Amino acid sequence: MSFERTEWVWHNGQQVFWDEAKIHSSAFGLHYGTGVFEGIRAYETVEGPVIFRLREHLDRLSASAKVYGIEIPYSREQLTEAISDNISFNDFKNCYIRPIAYFDSGGLGIRAICPVSVTIIAWEWANAINAEKKARGLRVTVSPWKKFHSSMLPTTAKSTGQYLNSILAVREAAMRGYDEAIMLDVNGNLAEGAVENIFLVRNGKVLTNDEKSSILLGITRASVIEIARNLGFEVEIRALSLDDLFEADEAFLTGTAIEIAPIREVDGRIIGEGRSRPITEMIQKTFFEIVAGRSPKYRPWLHPVSSTVGVGAIA
Ligand SMILES: Cc1ncc(COP(=O)(O)O)c(C=O)c1O
Repeated sequence: MSFERTEWVWHNGQQVFWDEAKIHSSAFGLHYGTGVFEGIRAYETVEGPVIFRLREHLDRLSASAKVYGIEIPYSREQLTEAISDNISFNDFKNCYIRPIAYFDSGGLGIRAICPVSVTIIAWEWANAINAEKKARGLRVTVSPWKKFHSSMLPTTAKSTGQYLNSILAVREAAMRGYDEAIMLDVNGNLAEGAVENIFLVRNGKVLTNDEKSSILLGITRASVIEIARNLGFEVEIRALSLDDLFEADEAFLTGTAIEIAPIREVDGRIIGEGRSRPITEMIQKTFFEIVAGRSPKYRPWLHPVSSTVGVGAIA
């Protein structure tokens, strides 16, 4: 990951230079992790950069903000324009985009009576995970840290403080030499990766879980479900056990950062036949055709950077 080429940051209504994009040390969100955010990608196509599923990301940002009572003082059109302009200002083709809305400075009593600030940072981040590792398949471990249950924090919201759980899991996994952590829910079923959703393939069928297993409802997950069904695969959505994972013919993780990454082994147990993963590869191939703008059927998933139309109101 590199911020090196990011010159402009959008902050509270303006494109400002990187060095000017500062927040105060009394910001509420810094002390209590009260921000909501999105991770979005723009991809290069022959017609210029396009943003993948911007509408869905703005919908989720809006829903996350609502749960936490964070009133975003910008409309969906304004955010769309801000994101598009920021990509253009930085002259990015492929990039990762991080809008974040948070309680700013205004007091530190935990009722959060504070103004809301919004920042958008974009940066060039081709591979969240080493390309060679991704091609080989990830070595993952089942984390000793459980995913919190939705009765404790809203798992379908993407908020900053919630990521302490993922950070503990991923650092612990890295310390033991693994590429990623798989988190179980409080019932011992699979929840998700630290920052990805999980899919299994068994006997030609694609399996994944849903919010009942304490997951964030990933936008890549929704896309993969649709792609798999359109490719003719049955997709079953149900709670998944560790046995399901160990018995799978193929397994993969999905997320905006990692895109679609196969799992090669779980705590030393090889998934399926290790390198043969035909269904994962078909889904990956379709996904990369879509984001490269080569699949007319999925064109509505791509928002041209130059366009601000058609995303609706955020409230
Ligand atoms: C906890 C968690 N689960 C799943 C995902 C995948 O979501 P998406 O595909 O929308 O990036 C993410 C990434 O945002 C995440 O942080």
